[in-house]
Amino acid sequence: MSNNSIKVRTNGPLLCTGEIELYAADGTLLEKSDDLVLCRCGHSQNKPFCDGSHRTVAFEDSGEFQDAKSEPIAGEGALKITVRTNGMLVAQGPMSLLCADGGVGGTRNKAALCRCGHSANKPFCDLSHKAQAFTD
Ligand code: FES
Repeated sequence: MSNNSIKVRTNGPLLCTGEIELYAADGTLLEKSDDLVLCRCGHSQNKPFCDGSHRTVAFEDSGEFQDAKSEPIAGEGALKITVRTNGMLVAQGPMSLLCADGGVGGTRNKAALCRCGHSANKPFCDLSHKAQAFTD
């Protein structure tokens, strides 16, 4: 079973651990790491990374969720996360999605995750970034 996981922090970022590869929208590899902290409030000055701005903007989200689209993990390998221009984080590869309390909210092989802070279905993207004219 894969050890990749994305943990959704209460009122805070996404903690990505395991074999993580971070890519720009054009496919450029930005970082390979076993531990990345990615912004999901939309306010970091160092996107896609969290810089602590979620505290100053008083971002609120419980970090508790149930993934209605949870699926069995297929295979092993890296979790590739692509930062879409003005949009979501697209995570591809075997992963567990963890709630803030550490419980498993779901398992996936692909997930679109909110990074603008406005989704009504956090941690997943619901395309609110378009209505909010999120830019990055
Ligand atoms: S979640 Fe930390 S700066 Fe956005």
